[in-house]
Amino acid sequence: MSTAKKQYKRVTTKSLIDMKVHGEKIAMITAYDYTMAKVVDNTGIDVILVGDSASNVMAGHETTLPITLDQMIYHASAVVRAIKRALIVVDLPFGTYQGDSRKALESAIRIMKESGGHAVKLEGGSEISESISRILTAGIPVMGHLGLTPQSIYKFGTYTVRAKETAEAEKLLEDAKLLEKLGCFALVLEKVPADLAAKVAKSLTIPVIGIGAGSVVDGQVLVMHDMLGITHEFNPRFLRRYLNMYEQMTNAFSQYVADVKSLDFPNEEEQY
Ligand code: KIV
Repeated sequence: MSTAKKQYKRVTTKSLIDMKVHGEKIAMITAYDYTMAKVVDNTGIDVILVGDSASNVMAGHETTLPITLDQMIYHASAVVRAIKRALIVVDLPFGTYQGDSRKALESAIRIMKESGGHAVKLEGGSEISESISRILTAGIPVMGHLGLTPQSIYKFGTYTVRAKETAEAEKLLEDAKLLEKLGCFALVLEKVPADLAAKVAKSLTIPVIGIGAGSVVDGQVLVMHDMLGITHEFNPRFLRRYLNMYEQMTNAFSQYVADVKSLDFPNEEEQY
């Protein structure tokens, strides 16, 4: 398998499949606003996920359940205005696609029309297969999401690793195959044992992008605020922090407060 990196001027769903074929790992990250999306798009990132984790990191909710379709469209359209290269995938929020495939299609169409995103992501396997199929009939690309699916947190009761038991692991592998068969272009696997994730990635031709799913998958995704160290109370084993922005920002804000209070800011050069 070649490791030579092909240049993608604009990343598409087809590029991701091509990357898998050529053994190039896919780098995906979340973004929720124009300014951060613009910074990240210049770094060679392949996929930007406008995740419903916006509910946590942008709005301060305990879970992803409260975020609405209108709010997702607001975040996604800000990201779309910033992006020149990355593929933009937008989460369908809780309550907008489960149990009613017509509603699912309507929700996905609103995302595509009103935000300009390129694809949608839905959580779940066989139980949402009708919704996935109907969305795909409209030509809207769908990314799947299995393993720890945070929209089902009240069913799981905990954010711990999923599919450690054989029955759940078998169901996950079956669901992954089903999602590929239905026509999903990629799949996120969240917080599952690395050997199971490797097995899923090997069994599918579509790319499997992991978060807490080990290294033998086709790509990785992290939540931006976690990898930048803006959030500091969330410390799962899979999270690599590339900065400690919580500390750097706290120091900067504290210094600003001190400078204002001590009349150090603004100085002669900082005024008209
Ligand atoms: O909403 C999100 O950020 C996600 C990632 C954790 C994959 O779904």
